Amino acid sequence: MTIKPLIILPDPVLRQVSKPIERVDADLQRLADDMLETMYDAPGIGLAAIQIGLPRRMLVIDLAKEGEEKQPLVFINPEIVSSSEDRSVYEEGCLSIPDYYAEVERPAKVTVKYLNREGKEQSVEADGLLATCLQHEIDHLNGVLFIDHISRLKRDMVIKKFTKAAKSKAL
Ligand code: NI
Repeated sequence: MTIKPLIILPDPVLRQVSKPIERVDADLQRLADDMLETMYDAPGIGLAAIQIGLPRRMLVIDLAKEGEEKQPLVFINPEIVSSSEDRSVYEEGCLSIPDYYAEVERPAKVTVKYLNREGKEQSVEADGLLATCLQHEIDHLNGVLFIDHISRLKRDMVIKKFTKAAKSKAL
């Protein structure tokens, strides 16, 4: 398994819309394992393929707490088929926007259908942190970031900060 470099805001790659995966094979499973390894190393609880520069519709999640046994989840071609009307608020962060956190309101429950790591069709009714995490990661597949759900003023501030940091790094 390999830890891959993360794509960081304001890299335009993060705005790409990822393409559906046509075949679940050993190469794809290796990629899923690399994504998990990269996520654990960061550390984070979710990672979409576009965050390592690959515009493919796959994401990984592990919500196990520190000291608990790992619970790796792989979602291939995930699709939200229904969302609840009731909403919940979580403080979100993103490995592509390091050290920035903000509260985001989203549907409290979602039903997501997807293929698992073996390519088998699955469906999950998610609530709590998993519901938020799935929506955050599926947004990535559509070029959407969690800062798109906060106020314009806050978003402009964080983009400006990261643009400045990227420029000083490039010098
Ligand atoms: Ni993210």
